[in-house]
Amino acid sequence: MNIKNINHFQNLEIDDILQIIKKAKEFKEILNSKDKIKIKELKSTLELKKIALCFFEKSTRTKLSFEIAAKNLGAELINLEINSSSIDKGETTLDTLKVIAKYGIDAFVIRHGLSGIIENLEKNINLPIINAGDGIHNHPTQALLDLMTVIEKICQDDLEKLKNLKLCIVGDILHSRVAKSNIELLSKFGVEINIFAPPTLFPYYLKIEGIKLMKNWNEVLDYSDVIMMLRLQNERMDNGFLPKSSEYHKYFGINQIIENRIREKQIFVMHPGPVNYGIEINESLNNYKNNLILDQVENGVYIRMAVMDYILN
Ligand code: CP
Repeated sequence: MNIKNINHFQNLEIDDILQIIKKAKEFKEILNSKDKIKIKELKSTLELKKIALCFFEKSTRTKLSFEIAAKNLGAELINLEINSSSIDKGETTLDTLKVIAKYGIDAFVIRHGLSGIIENLEKNINLPIINAGDGIHNHPTQALLDLMTVIEKICQDDLEKLKNLKLCIVGDILHSRVAKSNIELLSKFGVEINIFAPPTLFPYYLKIEGIKLMKNWNEVLDYSDVIMMLRLQNERMDNGFLPKSSEYHKYFGINQIIENRIREKQIFVMHPGPVNYGIEINESLNNYKNNLILDQVENGVYIRMAVMDYILN
């Protein structure tokens, strides 16, 4: 049996990725057309398919967008409620999933705090698995929705423009699965990626050819068409990583001075969310025309529809 999983991008060809993004755009057009007949037709795409959402870690965007995406395509959803499950009684993640698999599931969507767990589960579960974020490791659907947003909003659908695009990822690279999946995906398309991070939050093993470490905001602002801010993953670090969040805002956040310069240069700003305002970015950035954060949120639904369609059809 040839099972398709979405865990990382090593096994996905550029054509597969473009196929997913093309499909996501088609779904977006149909849903935005408000054409009731076409929207109703979408519901036959995954009719009779059962998808289990298993979120062992908290989520708003990823979980809800997968739910809405599955419903848009007519799939049945099984939601594992962690707090009322038997996990607390000592059942392992693998055992829990094996039990759910016996209920006639067609695919799993899994978020988990343990980095690399998806590879392990893939070997033991004979069903497609979509990684919805594992620890500090991968978040492939986030990277896909980020790529879709970049293509749409910055490149105006011209893929060639990706090869001239300069993107800087700023913040907690060490604990960010979003950064790792984006580096993997965007570099496949020739995007120039730079990084700006406190030394304690930059993983020095992440030495990838072509990726430059920026020294200060001046360099970031000089070399970037788009800045991808990251959330400080406080739940994955102790006090040793950063002195104070106010100091982080002063040196690595988009504070008022940096915001003024971003506006002046019309640099695009992205953030996977959830945002810690006053730490990673200023709340006043919300009325900036090149702030793409809510475009990322919206595209999450279409990308997740396309990913489920790719996996199950
Ligand atoms: N971007 C992201 O993964 O957000 P959630 O944790 O809310 O799903």
